Amino acid sequence: MTVHHTIEIEDCGSTFRCPESEGLLQAMERQGRRAIPVGCRNGGCGRCLVRVTQGAFRTGPMSCRHVPPGQCAGGLALACRIYPQSDLKVRLACEMDREAAKQERPQGQNGR
Ligand code: FES
Repeated sequence: MTVHHTIEIEDCGSTFRCPESEGLLQAMERQGRRAIPVGCRNGGCGRCLVRVTQGAFRTGPMSCRHVPPGQCAGGLALACRIYPQSDLKVRLACEMDREAAKQERPQGQNGR
């Protein structure tokens, strides 16, 4: 049986359902929602960067250029690589989140 969770985008109040086996961004698109910016859909471009403010999730591979290892623990993640493990509340990454990710980028790493 597929387990689904409710995802709430705090910025606009939009909600949609996402199975544990599907990326959050992909589930959003499949249901015709447009709350999160869409780019490569593959964890590389950083367009779908969000901060999970509530709930449990796991992630697939993400570019450390956009999500340094320490930032993921704070909820920063790429929506195309987020797989919910409970209901989630997320908000779009603000400029401050993006700057913090840039500053924490590991030295000598400029990609995945
Ligand atoms: S859409 Fe490119 S990293 Fe998610």
